[in-house]
Amino acid sequence: MQQLRYGAYDFAKKVFDEIRDFSRDPVIGISRQGYGPIEQKVHDYLKERAKELDLEVKIDRAGNLFLTLPGLDRTLPCYMTGSHADSVPQGGHYDGLAGVVAGLTTLYWLRQTKTQPKRDVTLVVFRMEESSWFGKAYVGSLAMTGQLVPEDLALKHRNKDQTLAEAMTEAGFDTNEILRKDCSIDLKRIAAFTELHIEQGPTLDSKKKERVGIVTGIRGNFRHKECRCIGVTAHSGAVNKEFRHDAVMAMGNLLYRMDKHWDEWLARGEDLVFTMGVFKTSSSSAIAIIPGEVSFSIDIRSLSRDTLNRFHALLEAECAVIAADRGVRFEFDRLLICEEANVDPDLSQHLVNAASKAEIPVLQIPSGAGHDSAVLGNLGVPVTMIFVANQDGSHNPHEKMKLEDFMLGTEVLFTSIVTYDDLNA
Ligand code: GLV
Ligand code: MN
Ligand code: MN
Repeated sequence: MQQLRYGAYDFAKKVFDEIRDFSRDPVIGISRQGYGPIEQKVHDYLKERAKELDLEVKIDRAGNLFLTLPGLDRTLPCYMTGSHADSVPQGGHYDGLAGVVAGLTTLYWLRQTKTQPKRDVTLVVFRMEESSWFGKAYVGSLAMTGQLVPEDLALKHRNKDQTLAEAMTEAGFDTNEILRKDCSIDLKRIAAFTELHIEQGPTLDSKKKERVGIVTGIRGNFRHKECRCIGVTAHSGAVNKEFRHDAVMAMGNLLYRMDKHWDEWLARGEDLVFTMGVFKTSSSSAIAIIPGEVSFSIDIRSLSRDTLNRFHALLEAECAVIAADRGVRFEFDRLLICEEANVDPDLSQHLVNAASKAEIPVLQIPSGAGHDSAVLGNLGVPVTMIFVANQDGSHNPHEKMKLEDFMLGTEVLFTSIVTYDDLNA
């Protein structure tokens, strides 16, 4: 295979292995918190590799890293690729990092083959894409595009008494700069942005032939980090049913009702996924106590903003019904919104053509998960995504990916870069 000939496979394997070595969570899986020391270590590691490949290195005010292989005509807007280097707590190695390593491997491959594309090729490594640590997703790309607000930086760490602003300051960044309203780079200087990512779902891995996907759209989401259902804490033996205000029972009823609605909405063809998690009862809860309070998170996702609005409104309405029925009350925290995004049809077609030129079969599929590409796409940058088959899902420590599949996706990326100006001439 061509990619083996130029050592790209071995290069990618070494990079994945070396980064894995310092990313292991002490208990299980991989933990690279955004604005934490391990994410920083990945950025430092990549800067070293950039030196070896003679790439230009830039870091913006939020710590996003840009590695550029200069093109023949530096007045042209660049072809950008990249993803994020952080992970969820005790997650897998490839969510985000696959796109970073694909970009670096592509730059290595261009250097090995002494190919200088017409325009600059830039690998961007975004900071903190994952919402799992502080509740806010796409922090690096939102900072790059001047879209963070002070409330975002006031969000608290999932299990430490630290705000996001404090974490950023500790990591050496100036939060006044991070909250600036302008873009840290000129978006008009990006001709195309392609993010490679593992699929994180089972579709591609179920295929023998198509191990690579070209994404047709990116789901948006409505999320709450910590809502509450508040009832009355009481003795589990002494209080009969009619006198209870059991918060866990109320939540059970809410989940049952929402699950039924979800089925109905799917049956009438809406794109919708719905998750409630991070359930916690009070630290004093015990077998003999009727639970008086439950806190929980909400994550609703769809390709359609209208579906998100309506399902969220339905959830609030069901909470009101249950509150009246059971004498409990619900408190919702701030609604966090990630916009759904379309991919650029011309750029996606270019990727399909590149795959066909490289004789790599691809499947066109939507992205269920959220990605930084959505932030750029919604600001008018032509974006698309390459998905790579992976095993055992994602956002869990068992997530896997075969390097052979990764190299197919990387070859599509490489081909799309070297043919970009043929097709756009
Ligand atoms: C990104 O990791 C997401 O939660 O979709
Ligand atoms: Mn993720
Ligand atoms: Mn990701």
